[in-house]
Amino acid sequence: MQSGIRNSLLALFSKAGNDYVSGQKISEELGCSRTAVWKHVESLRSEGYELEAVRRLGYRIVAKPDKISENEIRLGLDTNILGREIHYRDVLPSTNIKALQLAAEGAVEGTLVVTDEQTSGRGRMNRTWHSPSGKGVWMSLILTPDIPVAKTPQLTLLTAVAVAQALEEVSSLQMQIKWPNDILCNGKKIVGILTELQAEADRVSSVIVGIGINVNQSQSDFPTEIQSIASSLSIEQKTMFDRARIIQTILKKFEERYLEFLSDGFKSIKPIWESYAAIQGKEITARTLQGLISGKSLGIDDEGVLLLVTKEGDIKKIYSADIDLRTS
Ligand code: BTN
Repeated sequence: MQSGIRNSLLALFSKAGNDYVSGQKISEELGCSRTAVWKHVESLRSEGYELEAVRRLGYRIVAKPDKISENEIRLGLDTNILGREIHYRDVLPSTNIKALQLAAEGAVEGTLVVTDEQTSGRGRMNRTWHSPSGKGVWMSLILTPDIPVAKTPQLTLLTAVAVAQALEEVSSLQMQIKWPNDILCNGKKIVGILTELQAEADRVSSVIVGIGINVNQSQSDFPTEIQSIASSLSIEQKTMFDRARIIQTILKKFEERYLEFLSDGFKSIKPIWESYAAIQGKEITARTLQGLISGKSLGIDDEGVLLLVTKEGDIKKIYSADIDLRTS
């Protein structure tokens, strides 16, 4: 089936939601015969879509294949800004790298870069991010908020909140956020977030928000060195997840939180972030570029900076670090 026809057909089903679309309507909208409609429907079925056909009512999609290409994400997407443009590739070195490039070329705000597999997925602190084909959500959003550079770490906290909310909506699992941006489920890391910045003078020109979610991996899919600390939604809930639906839900939650942030600032995000905080009141060690700082976490201040009280009673502000929970 030609991709133009396929897109129009999927768009028709998307608009109809759970309602049936009659063969007559499809043939009018696509400008083709009823026989051609039947062939197009069969072609979608061969791609893994399950379509229900009811006499006199028409067709509706009851299940989609677990694909995350542009059409699967668009079908059912309910946002105005995020995902206006979708740049999908089966394989990319890194969605963040691609997004940085597209942003430099003037991509519109809300552009989503997404791939099925990353060959050089980037993690924080120059680590690599394991991103096998068909198992996870590897995506980056291009944002162009008019905010000073100093406020961009707040976007990372906002991202963690939006993703935690979305994952709780699509699963029956409970998420926790480990400052600044790891999302944990049952104590294991499920999500990593990497925010990268393009700025002119002190103003942000674009922020790339990279989100990696372990979705359908089994334990043996992880490299041995992270098997004890990493997990996936599917391991935790013992069921497989629809990755396109996860992406749609993230875009929806993200857009809600982002619009609140643009109008009210970080104060709209802080209480929600705190409700997910994994380290509040706990003994922690912050591994910063300047060295290790240990103490009790006091949570975040109004700017999203982590506060820690050392055993000498000094209050330290932590702007960037990896956090270890101390057991002794
Ligand atoms: C971390 O170290 O916890 C952050 C990991 C971020 C991984 C995501 S996957 C999509 C996006 N593209 C990348 O190369 N990295 C981020």
